[in-house]
Amino acid sequence: MHLKGKRILLGVTGSIAAYKAAHLTRLLVKEGAEVQIIMSTSALDFITPLTLATLSKNPVYHNFFDAKNGSWTNHVELGLWADLFLIAPISANTLAKLANGLCDNLLAATYLSARCPVMIAPAMDLDMYQHPSVRENLKKVVSYGNIILDAESGELASGLSGQGRLMEPENILDQVITHFKSDKSFAGKRVLITSGPTQEAIDPVRFISNHSSGKMGAAIADAFASSGAEVHVVLGHGAKKPKHHGVIIYPVKSANEMYMEAAKIHNEMDICVFAAAVADYAPKDVALEKIKKEGDGMTIDLVKNIDIAYTLGKEKKFHQIHVGFALETENEVFHAKQKLEKKNFDLIVLNSMREKGAGFQLDTNKVSLFFEDGSSLQSEIMPKEEIAKLILEGIKKLPVKI
Ligand code: PMT
Repeated sequence: MHLKGKRILLGVTGSIAAYKAAHLTRLLVKEGAEVQIIMSTSALDFITPLTLATLSKNPVYHNFFDAKNGSWTNHVELGLWADLFLIAPISANTLAKLANGLCDNLLAATYLSARCPVMIAPAMDLDMYQHPSVRENLKKVVSYGNIILDAESGELASGLSGQGRLMEPENILDQVITHFKSDKSFAGKRVLITSGPTQEAIDPVRFISNHSSGKMGAAIADAFASSGAEVHVVLGHGAKKPKHHGVIIYPVKSANEMYMEAAKIHNEMDICVFAAAVADYAPKDVALEKIKKEGDGMTIDLVKNIDIAYTLGKEKKFHQIHVGFALETENEVFHAKQKLEKKNFDLIVLNSMREKGAGFQLDTNKVSLFFEDGSSLQSEIMPKEEIAKLILEGIKKLPVKI
């Protein structure tokens, strides 16, 4: 009984996937949750309130006013009652209402009154799901702190195949259980993470890059998202994406693009973690056509790239925390401490290429954390997920910034 004593308000909206709300309700109740349900008017076309009332063992609400019983449904009370407001499935229409503060039904009014975390599980056809307006609305609700349970891929009711299926009820249940289990120490914080390699074009088919897989950055992003933070990842091409559904990704290729995306949002962030392996130099000129093989040798003129961490470090506000990484092959501690100071980091995470089980590509890492006040902390070889948790613990130890 993982959800014993938890009060879950389930919102059901007009989608063919509304029938799955019955199974979801059963799963939640079986885990010990107390479930109350609000349906949008169009959800009534897909599943009856009687089914959901029977399974939840509670009356189902869909109107502000129940003419039969002459009673008023108090959306504020419902919003305050819940420990979690889970809207599954959420249609494009309801999503647009939540994103823009519309309030023309009980479900939307309750959303505006709810003080608890809100999870939404979209279900729609694949083209609708990819439409820029839907993507924009998803971004908006994430920026309000809501958690997205991303639609799954597979066969859709339309007969098309692709992303848009409601997350399976069993998977939704897992997300709900994880949500209640996890520590929420970073709730309300906005976090920027740079992750993965950069690619510096030589010509249309070649580039300079490095071995970063993005595994370390993804683990840090997931750890922050699970701890309640709003996470923004500027992600190098081909790097591992975070698993957490709420993480906002900005795909980039070059160091310059990575800087531009990071700089756009840096001001609004509370914590920045520079985990990307950024190329220090890029070809001076990018050939417009594929360079032909001529002669026995070839020279490429390189120019220095912008140092993202250093540049943003100069703009760091008093309340902001900057965490850097150092990847070294010799004289590791000296170089890491130099970077801590030069780049205005509050904390630097050193991983050495000389340690077995540490660095690029691997699922494990071994790190040393050096703090601005001179203290330090060492880890064993651990999965990158555990290293990420250690880094978050390190961040919690930093002096509180107002
Ligand atoms: O991605 P994985 O395969 O999981 O591997 C993880 C990792 C080894 C890439 C990662 O843990 C790591 O060490 N990332 C930083 C690598 C690096 O570029 O280190 P650096 O010592 O060159 O740079 C120091 C710091 O400045 C880093 O925070 C880096 O992101 C930042 N930097 C560097 C150069 C530059 N132009 N802009 C930057 O922001």
